[in-house]
Amino acid sequence: MGGLSNRNIIVGITGGIAAYKAAQLVRDLQVRGASVRVVMTRGATEFITPLTLQALSGQPVHLDLLDEEAEMGMGHIELARWADLICVAPATADFIARLQAGRADDLLTTLCLATDAKLVLAPAMNQAMWRDPATTDNVASLLERGIQMYGPDDGSQACGDVGPGRMMEPGAIAEHLASLFETRLLEGQRVIITAGPTREALDPVRYISNNSSGRMGYAIANACALAGAHTMLISGPVNLDTPERVERIDVLTARDMYDAVHARMDDCSVFIGCAAVADYRPVAIAEQKIKKHEDAMHIELVKNPDIIASVAALADKPFTVGFAAETQDVEEYALGKLQNKKLDLIVANDVSSEEAGFNSQNNAATILSEHSREEIPLTSKQVLAERLVKTIAAQLPREID
Ligand code: PMT
Repeated sequence: MGGLSNRNIIVGITGGIAAYKAAQLVRDLQVRGASVRVVMTRGATEFITPLTLQALSGQPVHLDLLDEEAEMGMGHIELARWADLICVAPATADFIARLQAGRADDLLTTLCLATDAKLVLAPAMNQAMWRDPATTDNVASLLERGIQMYGPDDGSQACGDVGPGRMMEPGAIAEHLASLFETRLLEGQRVIITAGPTREALDPVRYISNNSSGRMGYAIANACALAGAHTMLISGPVNLDTPERVERIDVLTARDMYDAVHARMDDCSVFIGCAAVADYRPVAIAEQKIKKHEDAMHIELVKNPDIIASVAALADKPFTVGFAAETQDVEEYALGKLQNKKLDLIVANDVSSEEAGFNSQNNAATILSEHSREEIPLTSKQVLAERLVKTIAAQLPREID
């Protein structure tokens, strides 16, 4: 089980008897590691209470488009951006028709229009309604737009009919959703990613470090594993779970990280340096806690090895991708680092805003090489990681048989 760690999923519930199954779906998605928010149509609340879904998801349930209180929490556009995936289960014939027509007359249809996230419907309705040409046309048109349909299953229905129209079982939906994120873009590649901060001790209780949470690097590791790569994370001290199918080595200092990286370079084909490595460390580490005597104190620092530059300088170097955390002239400095460190790609990361970069859930960046430029506007770190994996896969040198 798993496959949905770090995923933000909106479960949309519309007004049909199968709405009760949505409660199990929320649980199944959470067990697989997803963060879930629930959006219900007014019709859905006739079949299952928002309170049930609120208790299960641990989040307020979103009901109305024009709800001042909800907009002050997470507004509808923010919610549309937050989602990596919207799964409407059950999706009634009426909802399918409104979505096909491009209506935005309630919160759920509005979100579906406003999001860039993947959209999946699990239809559920009476078998005759499912077979009706109006529904058939609407479904065909949505499929053509890239919206996926799971089910409906065949079988006995609550109304007594037998035929196609039962909502697919929640466990099966969750399994399909998890596989949606798997690609084979990096199959056969051996990827090493550095993530998080390093810590440079001053004395037994104090250190120099930075605000890196590790989220960006861990999201990249998750995206690489989902893309089929053998993935290893070399991580500074962070408070995050290791993504599935990722091997993790914990380190503390920049020199530990350097050693851990070089001990594993032999068969590495892609190296991604996302860690915020301390550029300097104290010349000496005091054996005992430093006492405060003077008003001012001076710490002598010495430069740490540049891990990514040393990787890119190897005779048999992997495809090497760096990050540049900058607060001004972001692209100019990033391009300087691309050239000086002899990298294949660099992710120019403007860390001047609180919404992106260090220690936030989201990020925005520009992926640069000598001959390409790709801007990725503010999005979740997971989506950015997937875009980066796509770019790496497209730029990797092809092996000639
Ligand atoms: O961890 P999060 O909270 O999710 O935040 C993500 C992030 C902001 C840390 C990440 O997106 C990011 O920008 N990481 C790079 C941070 C950084 O140290 O940038 P830099 O411009 O100082 O370094 C340039 C490149 O050299 C980086 O690839 C860095 O890993 C590498 N480097 C730097 C110094 C050093 N001694 N060795 C290195 O390998």
